[in-house]
Amino acid sequence: MCGPLLLLFGGLLALPGTLTDPISPPDLQLWAGLDLFSRGDWAGAQAQLWGSVRSLRELREVRLRCGTECKLRGTQGPQLEEAVLSRADCLLGCEKLLLGEPSLYRLTQETERVFQRGLPYNYLQVTHYKLEELDKAAAAAFTFYVKNPHHEQIQEDIQRYRRMKEIQEPSFQDLEQPQYKTVYAQALSLLSEGKFRVAVRRLEDSLKIYLMEHEDCRALCEGTREQESEIYKDFSYAISQYYTEVLQCKQNCALEPTLRPSGEHSKQDPLISHLSLLLDIYTKLEDWEAAAEIVRSLLLFQPQNETAKERLRGYEERLQGKNSDKLRESIVSYVRRTLSEKRLLYYAMEHLNISFNDPDSWTPEEIIPESLRDRVKKEREEKDQRTLPFEEVTVTLTPKQMNGTTRVTLDGVINEEECQMLQTLGQAAGGPGSGFRGRLSRHTPRERIQGLTVLRALQMAASGAVDSSHARLYYRASERARVLAQSYFGTEKLHFSFTHLVCRSAIEGEQDSRNDFSHPVHADNCILDPEERECWKELPAYVHRDYSGVLYLNDDFQGGDLFFTELDATTVTAEIRPSCGRLVLFGAGGENAHGVRAVTQGTRCAIALWFTKSAVHAEQERSLASDLMVGSDGHKQNKESETKNTGRETSGRETFASKEEPERPSGRRQKKRVNRKFEDEL
Ligand SMILES: *[C@@H]1O[C@H](CO)[C@@H](O)[C@H](O)[C@H]1NC(C)=O
Ligand SMILES: *[C@@H]1O[C@H](CO)[C@@H](O)[C@H](O)[C@H]1NC(C)=O
Ligand SMILES: *[C@@H]1O[C@H](CO)[C@@H](O)[C@H](O)[C@H]1NC(C)=O
Repeated sequence: MCGPLLLLFGGLLALPGTLTDPISPPDLQLWAGLDLFSRGDWAGAQAQLWGSVRSLRELREVRLRCGTECKLRGTQGPQLEEAVLSRADCLLGCEKLLLGEPSLYRLTQETERVFQRGLPYNYLQVTHYKLEELDKAAAAAFTFYVKNPHHEQIQEDIQRYRRMKEIQEPSFQDLEQPQYKTVYAQALSLLSEGKFRVAVRRLEDSLKIYLMEHEDCRALCEGTREQESEIYKDFSYAISQYYTEVLQCKQNCALEPTLRPSGEHSKQDPLISHLSLLLDIYTKLEDWEAAAEIVRSLLLFQPQNETAKERLRGYEERLQGKNSDKLRESIVSYVRRTLSEKRLLYYAMEHLNISFNDPDSWTPEEIIPESLRDRVKKEREEKDQRTLPFEEVTVTLTPKQMNGTTRVTLDGVINEEECQMLQTLGQAAGGPGSGFRGRLSRHTPRERIQGLTVLRALQMAASGAVDSSHARLYYRASERARVLAQSYFGTEKLHFSFTHLVCRSAIEGEQDSRNDFSHPVHADNCILDPEERECWKELPAYVHRDYSGVLYLNDDFQGGDLFFTELDATTVTAEIRPSCGRLVLFGAGGENAHGVRAVTQGTRCAIALWFTKSAVHAEQERSLASDLMVGSDGHKQNKESETKNTGRETSGRETFASKEEPERPSGRRQKKRVNRKFEDEL
């Protein structure tokens, strides 16, 4: 079995320095860096932390290289066992040669996760900041932010960096951005300049690079694993289990966060995004042959897509039978391989009781064994819930349950106490004095209404008219709603169009035989025309609004349900009872005509939100409010985040100082402990 090792040397020569210069284990550097950090040795910490990031990258490169060098040869019958053993021998030899003893560079899964979450970058941004290297600080912070977009501390830090005049916009770059994204972005910008021919070439490059990076992700799935339990298992079963684990990991590369397009948590498969965009451009360029080829490839993912089929027929007519079955080879083999892996995984799921979470939503039904279809469908719906960015938020009513497509009801967005605080804010907003209950509603003479924008709330807080923590909560809660809308609907970045905290109160003695609404049926971005059963998307409607949301604060009132209708404004398709922390999100168009039933007793408070995809239409007020959040309320907030930073350091120091001597991670178990401690702090 020395064949493969000999073969290896040819390849190794191309990797200069590695033989004499073994990789310093990334985990050891990480712990050393955190240790120095806790003592305030910023420069030392920085060197170690960057070292750990670099080592990890090198480690991965070596793994990829060894994987390619050690191909599985001969894959049938008894030859298979021999080939597997021979590959193992080759890999071990290769890695030993390049990296040293396995015990040095094998990371525990927990450490792997620490790196995946980009933790070193969060410390690096602090060290660079302390050393007054602001551009580098911004880049490290941004890199951590991309991996953890919902991390509140990093959001605030980024805002702080953005307001520093010394930092140029290009500094906010993701240092771990996969290469394809850079190229994809170039293609998009060429496209926006109308340079279609150049753009399409860049996009084709991006597609090729994406496929290569995806391949690397898959190759790394064959790394070592920690065995969780050591239960005795039959030989074949043990192998099946390991094999399915590797397959599952490979399938998940379609989801690999760093490999996904940067519309934050876009649900779109990058491969499908590439193909759809290519299709658009080739159509614009009237390159029917290429367009037909792409649409055929797209149909591999969605064989039932009638729109796509029609388009294909159109192209084929123009081509008059020329190249009538050309397909992208790379896409065909991608789909074929993915599907054959899925077949195995579903087989294992059906017969071996091994779990499999299919990451793709395009998996054709016939691949899934009949006995599993219901279960898979249910699990997929549950997974949709789990992928929400806030753990405590759940999907109460799916779009389907709400008898629509772009509507959803979420619960747990804010808690009881927060509802109370916001209600207090909403009611204080009417103005000073206790008796004042707002102006008459524009929609009904039987309710009073009072409203407050985020900016107004923060301004009132600044002048001491309302509690500052309430106003800040208002800002944060609306931000949560924005992030939820963006991630649930899988859209590009959403901007605020308008936000309004509104309380409606029933006027006592005016509630008999009411048959009007608190808010009559309407749509948010078009003019509803029930007679024509149309919704006209034209001014004076707010045509740029794309999504709407209502975050409810209470339920101690009568009436006031939200309801959706068809375009006739009378056929009710869904009705939702408000309650504290419940957020209803929906598309702002005619498909979601809606109204609010009369509030006949008590006061109903809610935050109404409108979002737009268009940065141009983002409301000015929001950025003023954001300045107030970090600025004027002012020095206080600045100090707050300062102490947050120093708080992090000192508490780090305390944890170490409380021991006789700073803890030096050496053994595996110790490492894990230190690592947990730091995770809690950040
Ligand atoms: C069907 O294909 C068209 C054209 O490629 C695409 O725009 C559309 O989103 C697809 N439909 C679905 C349900 O994916
Ligand atoms: C399947 O596995 C789950 C846990 O993975 C276990 O609870 C269940 O009893 C198993 N079912 C069968 C039929 O073996
Ligand atoms: C959706 O329609 C069904 C059947 O008409 C109805 O029972 C259900 O309550 C509706 N969903 C909502 C949320 O109103």
